[in-house]
Amino acid sequence: MRHWPTLPETAMIDDLLKQAPERVESMIDQHEGFAETAMHYMPEHVELETLREAIQCCQACDLHRHATQPVFGEGPVDARIVLVGEQPGDQEDRQGRPFVGPAGKLLDQALQRAGIRRDAVYVTNVVKHFKFVEKTGVRGKRRLHQKPNAREVYACRPWLEAELALIQPQLIVCLGATAAQSLFGRDFQISKRRGQFVATDWCERTIATWHPAAILRMPDRAKKAEMEQQLVDDLVRANDAPH
Ligand code: URA
Repeated sequence: MRHWPTLPETAMIDDLLKQAPERVESMIDQHEGFAETAMHYMPEHVELETLREAIQCCQACDLHRHATQPVFGEGPVDARIVLVGEQPGDQEDRQGRPFVGPAGKLLDQALQRAGIRRDAVYVTNVVKHFKFVEKTGVRGKRRLHQKPNAREVYACRPWLEAELALIQPQLIVCLGATAAQSLFGRDFQISKRRGQFVATDWCERTIATWHPAAILRMPDRAKKAEMEQQLVDDLVRANDAPH
């Protein structure tokens, strides 16, 4: 009793008590925010087409607010191989199709070199909306890619799960760390375990390789060529795997 009036914190007690109910509400909101997932938006009858339609309304995380549109996966429902990337980029967001920008061009070349037809594989992403920050520079406004956080990956997961459940691929190729960590677990490192087949819940053979955008960003020319060759080799390995 003697010391309390002299403590600076004492002055805050009244205000803290008044704000308590509101702060509790906000904590519950944040927790529920984490719990919300795309499950709320699943169609009754699950097919690629109904999923594609249903995802247009998805607000399971905040990314829909600034993105142009969701970018759903593309390819045949009976595809043997599913390629999983991170999230749509600037071009994908505008066109509504996965891997059609610069990273997509590199992926197309790698697929061609591996002898795989792009229209025979199913191409999708872990997160279906483009996450970016807008930067104004000498070349005008640019939308710079931002890595999706755990909450966004979690919220979007039911779409990927539904795609994989319908397609039941024989092989999944994770392009980059976000896809690999989403399927193999948080500790997965591409640099250490690239190109190895691992059984996952979705298929017998899942393999992780470089993301084409990581290859594009690599400043060292020799290393860039090596990574590109490894991407092709991993795609060949996936395609040659026994049926
Ligand atoms: N990067 C991705 O991970 N996915 C795309 O669709 C495009 C770029």
